[in-house]
Amino acid sequence: MNRVIAANSPEQAVIDRVAEVADLVTVALDELLPRAEGPESRLTEAMRYAALGPGKRLRPFFALEAARLFDIDARSVLRAACALECVHAYSLVHDDLPCMDDDDMRRGRPTVHRAYDEATAVLAGDALQTAAFDIILHEDTHDDPAVRCELAARLSLASGARGMAGGQMIDLLGVRDDLGGVARMQRLKTGALFAYAFEIPLIIAEASAQHQHALISFAHDVGLAYQIVDDILDAEGSAEEMGKAAGGKDAALGKTNFVTLLGLDEARQRVALLSDQARAHLESFGDEAEILKASVDFVLRRRS
Ligand code: IPE
Ligand code: IPE
Ligand code: MG
Ligand code: MG
Ligand code: MG
Repeated sequence: MNRVIAANSPEQAVIDRVAEVADLVTVALDELLPRAEGPESRLTEAMRYAALGPGKRLRPFFALEAARLFDIDARSVLRAACALECVHAYSLVHDDLPCMDDDDMRRGRPTVHRAYDEATAVLAGDALQTAAFDIILHEDTHDDPAVRCELAARLSLASGARGMAGGQMIDLLGVRDDLGGVARMQRLKTGALFAYAFEIPLIIAEASAQHQHALISFAHDVGLAYQIVDDILDAEGSAEEMGKAAGGKDAALGKTNFVTLLGLDEARQRVALLSDQARAHLESFGDEAEILKASVDFVLRRRS
């Protein structure tokens, strides 16, 4: 059933801002990524294919929206958010490889190793990761080198063995049938990069401990709910809508995720609980955080 969304509602504002950020990020990444020139152009072309494709750009949306709560330069936030999006794109390129999830479709198009080849996909992922640090550490990101270093250090933590890459390792090894194990895997695999979106404005604003706690708690709840929704969509979503494999692919691969453990109904209940909990963390920001609060349902009602 299609819901009617009022023109001036917070829901409509979220839809508009997500679309606006997606455009901003794609234009900025197009500028920031190396052009497809020279004998290595196959690599740069594959990087651009991976990073400029039609992603939802939710992490940059959260970074820029959270930045509105502080008096900081949106250009710094946008550059760091583009770096985050490069790491995210790299994680997807490698996640899709035959040695990992072995997927043929991503964002409604052939995956990078399908459009190019496996070696090019490995290199494109590698080079997107280093491009992220190149972007962050460039002086255009922030005048203060200490801020740039902190942004880079936190991104490397969120991406590495104690973050996304560690979570991917656990995903591949398989978690036993225990919820704690799946929750920890999620926190590393998806939660760490999600939380980094909020760390960007927190670092740049040198935010208070109270604001850090509120936004990082929000990020953890939304990030967790986001992965549960991803697992629900994997089980019951349509590949056409999602632009990637669905139809119970995780279960067929023998993976343990929130749906294989909890079943669909309980997984949905958890998403609802986490949504309420997430919004509650933003109370101290008052009306300023209205769009961020409204974004929770938008993000979790996704069908793609
Ligand atoms: C996909 O991330 C991988 C997960 C962590 C669930 P997104 O759902 O943000 O993918 P894009 O960037 O919009 O393609
Ligand atoms: C991967 O999780 C998250 C990453 C760190 C790349 P999934 O394997 O469930 O992501 P999708 O479903 O392929 O997008
Ligand atoms: Mg995976
Ligand atoms: Mg996958
Ligand atoms: Mg998935």
